[in-house]
Order: sequence, then C-alpha cells, then structure tokens
Amino acid sequence: MTSHLLSVDSLSRERVEHLLRVARRVEPIAQRRQITRVLEGAVLGNLFFEASTRTRVSFNAAFCRLGGSVCDTTGFTFSSMAKGESLYDTSRVMSGYVDAIVMRHPEQGSVSEFAQATNVPVINGGDGPGEHPSQALLDLYTIDKEFSRLGKSLAGAHLLLTGDLKFGRTVHSLIKLLSLFDPMHITLVSPPGLEMPDHLIDLVVSRGHRIEQRQSLASDFRDLDVIYTTRIQKERFTEEMSENFTGVSREFIVDRAFMNRHCAQDTIVMHPLPRDSRPEANDLDPDLNGDPRLAIFRQTDNGIPIRMAIFATLLGVEELIERDRRDVRWFVPEKIGVDDADC
Ligand code: NCD
Repeated sequence: MTSHLLSVDSLSRERVEHLLRVARRVEPIAQRRQITRVLEGAVLGNLFFEASTRTRVSFNAAFCRLGGSVCDTTGFTFSSMAKGESLYDTSRVMSGYVDAIVMRHPEQGSVSEFAQATNVPVINGGDGPGEHPSQALLDLYTIDKEFSRLGKSLAGAHLLLTGDLKFGRTVHSLIKLLSLFDPMHITLVSPPGLEMPDHLIDLVVSRGHRIEQRQSLASDFRDLDVIYTTRIQKERFTEEMSENFTGVSREFIVDRAFMNRHCAQDTIVMHPLPRDSRPEANDLDPDLNGDPRLAIFRQTDNGIPIRMAIFATLLGVEELIERDRRDVRWFVPEKIGVDDADC
C-alpha cells in the first residue's frame, strides 16, 4: 500500500523516532561531506501552487542528494489548473510521470484529495492553513539536536508558540507532533483573533500536556526552553479581518531586548521562516542575528536531512544508504553563513 505524508495524524511516535534516526544517519550527505545515489533514476514532481523558497528548494535538494532528479511547476498560471483541470486529473497525470510528489496548495484538504487519485507517495508541503508535516518534523529534529547540545530533554520542557497561531500551519502540525511525546508545558501567545484553534488545544490537553494561554510577551519566561515565533499570515485573512487589522503591536515582538530581559541564556529561538523583515511587521527581529540562541538557520539546514529521511522511508531505500555512500570531491565551507554562531 502506498504511504503518503499528508498530516501528522498519520504518524506514531515510533515512526517519528525512526525518521529522526534516518535523518541523523544521512547528516554527512546533507552536510555535503558524502554523496549517495540510492535514488538514481527516480524523479520527483514538485507542485507548488503557493509562494515558497525553502520548502520547495529543500525538497528538491534532498531528492537530488539521494541521487534522484526533480521536475518542478510553480504557481497556477503555468499549470493546467489555470485551464480548470481538477486535482483528480492532475494527480492521475502526474503519477504517470514521476515516482513521488510534493504539493503545496492554498486550500486546506486539497493535498489529501490529490493523494486519493494516485499510487505514488504524496507529501503535503502545506495546504492552506491546514498542515505542514515535514516542517514539524524538521522543527522537532531541531529541538532534539539543540537539546542534546544543551543537555536538556523534551520531557517536561517549556515551549512558547507565538505569532499567528490561527492560520499558521507549521504550528498546527508542530503542536500535534509534540503531543505524541512525554508531557510538556506549552505556552501560547498570539495577537487577539489569531489564537490556536480549540480542537488542537483540546487534543494536546487530552494527551496529558499543560497548555497555558497568555495575552502578551510582557512577562517573565526564565524557565523557557524554546520560543517558536511565526509570521502573521495576512494572505489567509478574511476581508473583514484585513479591514480591521491594524498591525501587530510591539508587545508581541521577539528581539534582543526581550530575550535579555525575560529569557535565559539557553533559550533557543526558532521560526519556520520567512520572517517579515519590514519594520512595521514586528516579526522576529534581525537584531538577534549572530546570537547563538537564534536557531533559525540551523533549523532551515535541518530541512535537508529530514526531507531526505522522508523520501528514503517512503521509497524504501533507507537501509541501502549505509552501503551506498562515498566522500565528496568538491570544496565545502566549514560554516555555511558568515555570522553563523558557534554552539
Ligand atoms: C511557512 C509556510 O509556508 O507555512 N514557511 C515554511 O514552509 N517554512 C510559514 C509561513 O509562510 O509563514
């Protein structure tokens, strides 16, 4: 039977732990120290009907780093959906051309509908305000890596999710994924009207976690282990919401002053990116760049091993990678970014 990755709902804790183990094993390939050709001859179809940089490129790069190749289509304008083609027909057609499909679409549920018409594995790269399961997996992988470096454990950890918790699909998938693990303390802070949906809070509470909702960031967070900030998803607002939205006030901003005043030296800061760097956006402040607590680029780098692990397991080659790898021959820099912090 074909396996897809459409929602965190289909993942068990065992399957998640297996994916994280495979991701750890492919790290030397993701970090360009080794290469493998286990997916030689395989073709990925990347169908992105919404804006994307890192999800599209990292799925693409992860497939190539396993030895496969990629066919891309971006935006409705350049696809036959602009001519009224249904998800069913597009799915049936694409499956005749490629061995796996990653799809991003503005409507919640659309990627699942697409997956019903095909026997090749489909990965949900984001369906409107619904879910983004591969992002949640790379977020969990990041937390796991950062915690092992800091000597912390996930059980009993305190995490803050902030920003647009209503429309942010990354936090919807992440909170479900975290809820599969031992009880932790999750604090939610969002501007009015952008709160986490109740059904997700109920699910997490029913699994034994402690959820706390606060009105602003202006309070003490000394015992916090992770701050996960998100962009306001204005593109998903109803007309009425857009008319009434006057911007995010400064009490929701995560910047150096907030970190120094309210948080500990070992609190890590995450964001799925992109962050809105226009000054009025009050998104995660660039004044934290170069601060070792800012994990956002370590987080984006982790997209490669996780997405390699997803492909390797869906296509059944994870064991082969051990036997099929060799050192690279080209120049690879020690550090990727010029101000990457030493941690
Ligand atoms: C996010 C998304 O598209 O859901 N980005 C991502 O995939 N890393 C978050 C966002 O757009 O704000």
